[in-house]
Amino acid sequence: MTREKTEILFSEESIRERVVELARQISSDYRDCGELLLVGVLRGCYIFLADLSRRLSIPGGIDFVALSAYDRGTTATGPVRLVMDLRTEIAGKHVLIVEDIVDTGRTLDYLLSILRPRKPASMRTCAFLRKPSRLSTDLKVEYVGFDIPDVWVVGYGLDYKGRYRSLSDIGIIRAEGDPGPAGGARPAVR
Ligand code: PRP
Repeated sequence: MTREKTEILFSEESIRERVVELARQISSDYRDCGELLLVGVLRGCYIFLADLSRRLSIPGGIDFVALSAYDRGTTATGPVRLVMDLRTEIAGKHVLIVEDIVDTGRTLDYLLSILRPRKPASMRTCAFLRKPSRLSTDLKVEYVGFDIPDVWVVGYGLDYKGRYRSLSDIGIIRAEGDPGPAGGARPAVR
C-alpha cells in the first residue's frame, strides 16, 4: 500500500503498549462483574477490538453494531442511523462499547441513546482515539487510548475514502497542498 501521503502519529509499538495498558485497566475495573460484553462499532473498530479483546483477562462475549456514516466532509449535522443491530440481548449485562475514534461524539451519543433503554447492568465506552477539540456533545468516554488534535488519521482500522485501514500504525493524512504541521486541514471528504 502506498504510504507517501501519511506521516506516523503512533507507531505499532506505542499502539501495542497503550492497548495493553487499557486492557489491564478494563480487566481490573470489571474483575468482580462476571462477564463483560464488548460491542464493536463497525467498521473502524475491528483491529482495535481484536487486539483489546485478546488482552483482557476477564470472560465475556463480543457483538457488533453498524451505524450509518454521515458525510462529515460536507456536514456534521446529518442523521446517525443504525444499520445493523446487536444479536445479543444486553439486559442485565455489563456492556463496553468499543470505537476506533470519537470525533464529534455524535455516533456514540446516538448508540448510547438506543442501547440505554435495553437496560444493561452497566454501559461504558472505550475509544482508541479521541479529538477533544471536535466534541460537540458532553459525551463521557471512560477509556481513551490517546487524545489527538484535529487531524485526519488513518490506519489501525481508520480509513480515508476506504483506504489505509489495514496499516499497523496510525498516520496523519493531509489535504492536498497542506504540508502540516499536525493540526492542519482535514481532507474535504472522507
Ligand atoms: C467513524 C468512527 C466512529 C465515528 C466517529 O466511523 O469509526 O464510528 O466515525 O465520529 P463522530 O464521533 O463524529 O460520530 P465512520 O462513520 O467513518 O465509519 P467507519 O467506522 O465504517 O469508517
